[in-house]
Amino acid sequence: MRHLIDILELSVNELDELISTACDIIENGEKYAHKCAGKKLATLFFEPSTRTRLSFEAAMYELGGNVLTMADAGSSSAAKGESVADTAKMISCYADIIAMRHPKEGAPLVAANNATIPVINAGDGGHHHPTQTLADLLTIHREKGRFNDLTIGLCGDLKFGRTVHSLIGAMTRYKHIKFVLISPEELRVPDYVKNIITDAGHEFIETTSLEESMPMLDILYMTRVQRERFFNEEEYLRLKDSYILNVEKLNNAKEDLVIMHPLPRVNEISVAVDNDKRACYFKQALYGKYMRMALILKLLGIK
Ligand code: CP
Repeated sequence: MRHLIDILELSVNELDELISTACDIIENGEKYAHKCAGKKLATLFFEPSTRTRLSFEAAMYELGGNVLTMADAGSSSAAKGESVADTAKMISCYADIIAMRHPKEGAPLVAANNATIPVINAGDGGHHHPTQTLADLLTIHREKGRFNDLTIGLCGDLKFGRTVHSLIGAMTRYKHIKFVLISPEELRVPDYVKNIITDAGHEFIETTSLEESMPMLDILYMTRVQRERFFNEEEYLRLKDSYILNVEKLNNAKEDLVIMHPLPRVNEISVAVDNDKRACYFKQALYGKYMRMALILKLLGIK
């Protein structure tokens, strides 16, 4: 039995297989319409979500399966003090696979260690978000057509942004990747993530300037400042609008730049940018559904 807690648990070959399955689902969705008949996905979300929970649920329905959902921790027995371990044991009696989001880093790993069914980490605190990375990889595959020889700018809250940590980990496995880490000093990438980059032999630069970085980028991955991870509201208010991508700032960008964002967006990309052909963030959310379909099939052992 396999779980998915950290994107690095998937080999490059497995990522290629998932991307290939997702592309086949996009082209031939009808072939997959009954693959999960009789199977149930439990979505256990102890933190808010729109895309991840609903795309997991849409994915399972499009595979012909069913969904048990817990969208609000306050209405579950977690509110009475039930542990993540006991919750995972219980859900294993009712479902075939779990997607779990939790504010505490490591909670989905605890669930995996106690469940008798596959557990997928749908985001744990400021730690990892591997299925967002699957969506990001399919976006890069379809929009750039390659994973090697890319300069990737990651901009915003690189300290608490779990999607950034997972994407950096995944991209270090490819060749000739340069990371441009654009953030305020206070929201820099944690050292353990920088070590993943250098251990893999890649370069990174840290900068506070989005404007100066723009001309060199093949991909710009914007992120929201993660209000829910701040201990101090004043600090959040001071930093929240550090970067706002607007049409003017794109004047110096490459014609084939791919603009990504895991969403939700707050202020960090102005709505006018949505009309730019380089804006890929809504496609990215759609690709997430196809990658989650491919992942559910893989973890359930369905060909
Ligand atoms: N990208 C992402 O995780 O979005 P949600 O928080 O809406 O699930």
